[in-house]
Amino acid sequence: MTGAKIFTVANQKGGVGKTSSVIQIASGLARRGEKVLMIDGDPQGNLTLFFGAKDKRDFSALVSDLAKGEKTKADAYINARVRRNLDLIPAGNKRLRLDVRDTEIIGDYARFTDFINPLRERYEWIIIDSSPSNSPLEHMLIRASDAVIIPLEFQLYSVSGLESILDEVRSCSAEAGREIHVHSLLFTKAENRLHRVQTYRELFSSFHIPVYEICKSEYISRSLEKSRTIWECGPSSYAARDYRTLLDKGFPVRQ
Ligand SMILES: Nc1ncnc2c1ncn2[C@@H]1O[C@H](COP(=O)(O)OP(=O)(O)O)[C@@H](O)[C@H]1O
Ligand SMILES: [Mg+2]
Repeated sequence: MTGAKIFTVANQKGGVGKTSSVIQIASGLARRGEKVLMIDGDPQGNLTLFFGAKDKRDFSALVSDLAKGEKTKADAYINARVRRNLDLIPAGNKRLRLDVRDTEIIGDYARFTDFINPLRERYEWIIIDSSPSNSPLEHMLIRASDAVIIPLEFQLYSVSGLESILDEVRSCSAEAGREIHVHSLLFTKAENRLHRVQTYRELFSSFHIPVYEICKSEYISRSLEKSRTIWECGPSSYAARDYRTLLDKGFPVRQ
């Protein structure tokens, strides 16, 4: 398949840095001059709140339009240029799960894939934010992706959480009939002085998945509060350095 590579940033746990990573990764790629589409797949809409969104049909509307089998024109949902080279399909209302019953989403998995695939021609990267849950909605997003990025914290209970996401990715791969990769484990809020950090590094390296660490940094919380990306509010911070390493190594320039 040519064109954009599609990533979902996923972890059923909240507060692990999914949204902040989508913000910094997508805006970092856009600043490099590549065309990027973000999809806010979390009805809580933190990503949408950060970038702001104009009056367009949103992700909830998209899922419900797909479920009803309605014709979906991508431009009805895309907010163009929330930043240079950066577009956004915003989140919808918090009632998504009540509006669209799980059974309808299940019937719909392939429709979302069919919706997103033609967009590969318009972008170099498509980065999807997801909810802190493990429901058919996240399944639909992962199934349509090429790879999954998993933000985590250095904690023992992250291991069982990780194992369940890996299971989910495997089941999506089997259903989709193609391999969906695990791109990386992303340790946000990394601190060298953290208790047993070395033990955790060894533990997680045993999964044989590329690991990146983003240091714990006030600039990230400031970034979220001020709706300014790390490249805008702290380009020489340690957190920006770590996200830059992730981009350079994990997201080689397309073409
Ligand atoms: N590298 C970091 N340093 C400090 N705080 C961080 C870092 N990454 C994320 N956070 C904080 O963690 C909280 C949750 O981040 P968020 O991206 O909203 O997680 P999620 O989308 O997984 O729920 C936010 O308050 C954010 O400021
Ligand atoms: Mg979030």
